[in-house]
Amino acid sequence: VFSNLTPPRVHRVIEDCRQEFNARRPTVGNVGETYANTLNYTNHEINSGLQRAVSVSPSEVIAELTVSGLRGRGGAGFPTGIKWNLASKAKGDCKYIICNADEGEPGTFKDRIILGKYADMVFEGMTIAAYSIGAREGVVYLRWEYTHLKPHLEAVLEARRKSNLLGADILCQKGFCFDIRIHMGAGAYVCGEETALIESLEGRRGEPRNRPPYPAERGLHGQPTVVNNVETLATLSCIISRGAKWFSSMGTERSKGFKLFSVSGDCSRPGVYELPWGITVDQLLETVGGQGAKAVQIGGYTGQLVPARQFDRRLAYEDLGIGGSIIVYSAERDMLEVAENYLEFFVEESCGQCTTCRVGNQKLLEGIRLLQQGKCSNRYLNDLISLSETVKLASKCGLGQASPNVVIALNAHFKEEIMARPILGAA
Ligand code: NAI
Ligand code: SF4
Repeated sequence: VFSNLTPPRVHRVIEDCRQEFNARRPTVGNVGETYANTLNYTNHEINSGLQRAVSVSPSEVIAELTVSGLRGRGGAGFPTGIKWNLASKAKGDCKYIICNADEGEPGTFKDRIILGKYADMVFEGMTIAAYSIGAREGVVYLRWEYTHLKPHLEAVLEARRKSNLLGADILCQKGFCFDIRIHMGAGAYVCGEETALIESLEGRRGEPRNRPPYPAERGLHGQPTVVNNVETLATLSCIISRGAKWFSSMGTERSKGFKLFSVSGDCSRPGVYELPWGITVDQLLETVGGQGAKAVQIGGYTGQLVPARQFDRRLAYEDLGIGGSIIVYSAERDMLEVAENYLEFFVEESCGQCTTCRVGNQKLLEGIRLLQQGKCSNRYLNDLISLSETVKLASKCGLGQASPNVVIALNAHFKEEIMARPILGAA
């Protein structure tokens, strides 16, 4: 499905073609499941992490998580134990756990697979978090495009309530009361940014706030709030069940454990893979049938475009730290069309608060189109690079801070493609 399409529409392809993909793989049910190898999730004994958590003190649970080295799986990789510790110490009338299920990064679909197959582990992780920081209410902020998952998630929640895994006196622990509700997003990519998500939950436009204060200190309704990604919550259930030592024995020095990667684009085996941190891009491409690629986008559109000559780089926070999405580009791809696609996406999804992001991305898109038409001067190309740096520096949230990456990467790694079109002399 992916390789037969013209380049610019990869981010839409993943949603648009889901049904077609499923029809082609009737036993699969979801994009990627054929190749999913989520061994650690499959082997997890549901609720064993929660049972172990309530048998020790909240601070011991946080200490275990800190020692494990788990870093947030949403993309930024902030240490989960530190976040929980801050929230547990912050003063508030009530505290909240939010599961960020607004998985909007183009090329990312691992959380969809987790929610479809391992929802219990996500809710288990939220309940462990609630026990650890003293929260009474949890919210799953579910991407509007994942509405089809809601009935399933509601059914799992109801079963957990019936089994005394949610509600009052959970697992007969007097005073440990916690419940989870699902809140539907409305299709805005920027609501995956945690403070925009919180604004949206509070009934306002989904626009990022200034940080600090971070949600761990002041989040939903001004109260201490832990916002964790779906994968982070599922993974920590395994960690609390099997111990920090087990988890930290996998991966690399600064990237402990295993990770789920959503792989799409020009490869013969797209899907969700559970892999240890530290493998090289080359090894990954071999696994997914993407040999001969010209470039790989690591970490979705907000990540890094890595050219073939750098395929010996490692997927790990020491080198290429990523949220979990890999898009493969074959030798036939036109990188200017790829860049146009990225910028069209960011122009559409910018919330518009920052002039640099609102106007800057439009200008970058115009510049890419001038390059495509052979109507760009050398001087203007230099101006585009300088504008990219300004947009990165002066934008408030991750969207604007990362959207110009593709222009910078194009100039750094694919200059020959730019120069293959006519470039006008100095303006
Ligand atoms: P960030 O580094 O600012 O924050 C990451 C997390 O750590 C947040 O929860 C934040 O509250 C917490 N944190 C950071 N510093 C803290 C401090 N001093 N005290 C307390 N808590 C602190 O990154 P951000 O802007 O939240 O996320 C950017 C990432 O999101 C990018 O890596 C991007 O790739 C990824 N992303 C993922 C998407 C997806 O669909 N999974 C969509 C779009 C972006
Ligand atoms: Fe909104 Fe863009 Fe500014 Fe983020 S960087 S707050 S998306 S305008």
